[in-house]
Amino acid sequence: MPILSLGYLRLDIADASRWQPFMRDFLGLMEVDGATPGSLSYRIDEYPARFVLSPSEAPGLGAIGWEVTDRRDLADFADRIERSGRAVTVGTPGECAERAVTGLIRFEDPSGNPNELFWGPVYDHQPVRTPLVSRFVTGDQGLGHVILSVLDSEEAFEFYNGVLGFEERNVLDIPQLEGRYYFLGCNPRQHSLGLAPGNAPGLAHFMVEAASLDDVGLGLDRAHHMDVPMMQSLGRHTNDRMVSFYVYSPEGHHVELGFDGERVETRQPVYAITEGAFWGHRFTPPPSA
Ligand SMILES: [Fe+2]
Repeated sequence: MPILSLGYLRLDIADASRWQPFMRDFLGLMEVDGATPGSLSYRIDEYPARFVLSPSEAPGLGAIGWEVTDRRDLADFADRIERSGRAVTVGTPGECAERAVTGLIRFEDPSGNPNELFWGPVYDHQPVRTPLVSRFVTGDQGLGHVILSVLDSEEAFEFYNGVLGFEERNVLDIPQLEGRYYFLGCNPRQHSLGLAPGNAPGLAHFMVEAASLDDVGLGLDRAHHMDVPMMQSLGRHTNDRMVSFYVYSPEGHHVELGFDGERVETRQPVYAITEGAFWGHRFTPPPSA
């Protein structure tokens, strides 16, 4: 009963007027009318909104949603999570309706990052239209990947690997970093989840993958035209082989637009990387606020 894929991301944001051009005009996601009043909702495929951004007095990670197969698997996961000592809340019909899913549970990881498991996404059969991007790569690989900031990456690893069943794919453990980074997968996407040791929990990073190199190049052009602050220049990662660049979101998340990520089709030995990129990915510090 594995977790299938990263299904959705819900963020509580400070300033919708800065996020709307970022998500719609830079990243090229399809803005749709969402079920959460006052929020910005974006589709990239037939799934209900993959991104829901809700203005809030307390910005931060709203929830990371992971898809499971059916109600039975959801109940099995709820049992396992409770037996690990963590509280599980069953989503209300209203919460399911907001997310356009059939059932869901909520819980926090050991650092307090809000997670949800859901089953039964309610498909949207209006064709997805993303005129700025030829296609987003989703399907069995889910919406993309996220990196969570965690207080203790060993404890977080125990939870995501030991309780939720994510496969360890690779680590990054070099003297310049304080603590070990874990990259975990649950489907052919090399990693759907990264765990980064940090001083506070939260969403550090998210990535969406486009279907062509031109999509990434055109995204780079849009970033320059729109003065979206660059974080890492074009480069190719050593773990998922993604060709990508990174920008800073309006609230400082590291946002990656990538292409050509590797599919991991069979169980592979865990390995350690010593560099993030084969080439490129030159770092620019965040703009001062
Ligand atoms: Fe990434």
